[in-house]
Order: sequence, then C-alpha cells, then structure tokens
Amino acid sequence: MGSKLIKINVAELEDGMILGENLFDAMGNILISDGITLKKSYIKKIINHDIDKVYIKEKVKSENEEEGKSTPYIIKTRLEAKKLIGEAMEALSLNGAIVEKVLVIVNKLIEDLLDNDEIISSLGKLRSVDDYTLEHSVNVCIMSLILGISYGIKYDDLIDLGTGAILHDIGKMMIPQEILNKPGSLTIDEYEIVKRHTEYGYEILKNIKGISDIAAEVALNHHERLDGNGYPYGKKIDQIKIYSRIVAICDVYDALTSDRVYKKKIEHYKALEYICKMVNSQFDNELVKKLLNCVKIYPIGSMVKLNTNEIGLVVDIAKINPSKPVVRILIDEKGDKVADYLEVDTNKNIDIQVTNVFPRFQGNFG
Ligand SMILES: [Fe+2]
Repeated sequence: MGSKLIKINVAELEDGMILGENLFDAMGNILISDGITLKKSYIKKIINHDIDKVYIKEKVKSENEEEGKSTPYIIKTRLEAKKLIGEAMEALSLNGAIVEKVLVIVNKLIEDLLDNDEIISSLGKLRSVDDYTLEHSVNVCIMSLILGISYGIKYDDLIDLGTGAILHDIGKMMIPQEILNKPGSLTIDEYEIVKRHTEYGYEILKNIKGISDIAAEVALNHHERLDGNGYPYGKKIDQIKIYSRIVAICDVYDALTSDRVYKKKIEHYKALEYICKMVNSQFDNELVKKLLNCVKIYPIGSMVKLNTNEIGLVVDIAKINPSKPVVRILIDEKGDKVADYLEVDTNKNIDIQVTNVFPRFQGNFG
C-alpha cells in the first residue's frame, strides 16, 4: 500500500490523519513535522497559526487490495469514476461559504456511492454509451448533492438522490449510438426514441437490488417539467418529487455548459439566466434560488447583497470573472433607498464581495 498527498482545508483535519509537509510558524521555525500523525492538540495549533490548507498523506490501496472480490470491470469503472469526480470537484465554481459547508459531506456521500458495487456496475454500462454521458452523470450527481444539501435533504435520502442523479441517464444504453450522437437535429421519430431513455432507465434501476425506488424514479422523471410540458408522461408539479426536480435543474445546467457534437457550450451565467427564466414553468423556484446561492455566478437581473450590507441589482458581469458582477446599488447599508445612480464594480473593488443573492427575473419568482 502506497500513499499520495492531498491538500485539504484545515477545517477538514481529523485525529489520526498523517501530515504530508513540514509546517512553519511566522518566524520560520518548524511547527509540526512532515509525517506526524495528527492529534486534536496539533490541529488546534495549526488553526491558531492561521494556516488555511495543508497537505496530508492519503493511503492508496493497489487495485487488488482495494476491491477484494470485485471484478476487474468494477475496479476499472470505480477508478475512472473517482478520477472524473476529482476533476469535476476541482472545476466547480462554488460560493466560498458553501464550499466549506458542503464539500466535506459531498465527498463522504460520493465515497458511499462508489462503495456500492451495484451502482458501479451500472455506471460501467453508462461508460459504454459514450464518454460524455459518464462525465455528465458525475457532474449532475455532484451538483445535485450540493443542491440537495442546501435544500436540507437528510443524509440517507441524499444517498438515494446521488444514486438517482449519477444513474439518471442509464436508459441511454438502450438507445442507438447514432441517434444519441447525431450531429444534426433529430427527426420527430428519433426524438421519440431518445425520450424512451427515461422509461428504460426506470426499468433497469427498479430491477437492481440495492437501488431504491426514489433513485429509479429520478431516471423516470428527470425530464418532467412543473408545467406538464416534460416527458415521458407530462406529469404536473404535484406528481414530481423533489429528487427529480433537483436532478432536472442540474441536468439542464450541465448540458448547457458542456460541448456536444450538435451544439457548443454556453457560459455558466448564461445557463443560469436560462434556468432563471424557466422558473415556475419548468423548474422549482426554491431550488433555483438555492442554486444561485451555491454557485459563484450571478446572472444579470439578480438582486445581490454585498458585504457592505448594501443591496443592488446585477447590471453587468465581467466575462473573465463571472463571480464579480457590476452592481447598481438600490438600498444603502442602513436600509434606505438610494436616490442617486450608484454602481459598484466588484471586479475592481476587491474588498467588496457578494454575500447573498435573490434572483429577480421578469417577475417569475413568487
Ligand atoms: Fe436524460
């Protein structure tokens, strides 16, 4: 068994972890040495010295050690999924406060999901569809878990949500590749065939022991929309559970921000703008508000609160840094209306940050 170094937030340090670097105090003296097994007192010392992140050594088992009796197919898929999950986590542009709160739980949830041979075996089948589908499924899973945690879903139910999210498109393995990856637009008949991936997915998951009905229903309902204009059944708002509503938003968000053979990806803030405009007709209002608070991107038209306590409207976004909007101040720090035209460019004023976001799109939000 070998080991690898991983960098983690100090808040995630636990008793028994092995430090992977020498830590120094402000005078350059060694505080704690590389290779030390951390105890509570050491962790306190690190926190007291204002260190944000440290390297720790993580034990890495060889493939054979790791999987015991699992088949090489499951081993390969698990390793591949872990790699994709690592990449997806790094690429996430999340609100700082959210990162600390939820990423530790998301990591734990993902580990639990990857421990389940049934899930991994199904994931392996997704790999046979195409590279995009597996990567997309991983992204949707992570985003759904973050949204589920923000919404207050309980840990056990999050496992079902994560399972449904990572396998939501499993039915695509039944759809011919040439239709799934057709560069041009689909004919009506072809689109009808693609739509069937929801029902195929439900049938596949429902027959796997160890995968819950909740997860199977996500595969069935992730293309249903609140106004009844989704598929396969055109279910309405009260027939679509929260798990499918979450995955529906994350599925669209990731699809819009990914390149496909038949379309180019769009910017993250544009994808959020699209989702915001579809609130109440397609997507759940409360969930979209949570999504906007999770991601570090603020669509034009959102109301935001700044760390100065001022409240204003996002009127522009720096293309190179969508997490830094230009805000027209409407309410000052005392809560009074601002009469004069006042704009704050958070990209140029590095001390000013957005602390909260209240979506506001053409009166769609109730
Ligand atoms: Fe789908």
